[in-house]
Amino acid sequence: MGSGSATARSRSNGELPEGRTAGTFRINGEDHPVVFATNHTLLEVVREECKLPGTKHGCELGECGACAVLVDGEPILSCLQLAADALGKDIETIEGLQNGNDLHPLQQAFADLGAAQCGYCTPGILMVARALIDNEPDPSEEQITEALSGNICRCTGYKRIVEGIKWGAAIQRGDDWRPDEEYFLGTDIPGTQDQA
Ligand code: FES
Ligand code: FES
Repeated sequence: MGSGSATARSRSNGELPEGRTAGTFRINGEDHPVVFATNHTLLEVVREECKLPGTKHGCELGECGACAVLVDGEPILSCLQLAADALGKDIETIEGLQNGNDLHPLQQAFADLGAAQCGYCTPGILMVARALIDNEPDPSEEQITEALSGNICRCTGYKRIVEGIKWGAAIQRGDDWRPDEEYFLGTDIPGTQDQA
C-alpha cells in the first residue's frame, strides 16, 4: 500500500471505527486527507469524500468507461479499483485537465467540434485520450479506437469523438491540422472566420 495510508496504524490504535480507513489521496497535485469506508472504490472516494464529482458513475461493472481516471499516468476504471490501493499514487481526474482558465487541447477540440452531447461519457473519454496523446502525440485512428475500446458513448457517435481526439492531439503538438468542414455542423470553423 502507498505511503499515504494510515490504515494499519489507525486500525491498531483504535482511532477509527471498524471498516474505516484514513489516508491522503494525491489528486490533481493536491492532497486530500480523508476517512473513507475501507471497501469503497476509488470512484466512490473521489466523488464523495474528495468532492470531485466530475468523474462519472456509470455501470460500476467495468463496462462503460465513464469512471476512467489516471493513476500514475495510466488510465484505470475507478469503479474497479479499491480506493486504498491508490493511496500514495498520483491520481488525475477531469477536474485537473484544464490549466487554470485554459482548456486542455482535447477539451478545446471537443467543445468546438460538438464531440459531447449529454457529456456523461466525456470525462472518462478525455482522460483516456489524454493518456493516449501524452504517449503517442500523433495517434492513428486505429490507435484512438483501440484506446477507446472500453468507453461507451450513447449519444454523440464515435466519429466526432475520434476527430476531436485527432484535433486535440494536433493542437497539443502545434500542428494546424483540423477536421474536415463536414464535422462542424454548419458553424464557423474556429480560427477561419473572416476578420472584419
Ligand atoms: S462506472 Fe466504471 S466502467 Fe462503468
Ligand atoms: S455524450 Fe452522451 S453518452 Fe457520450
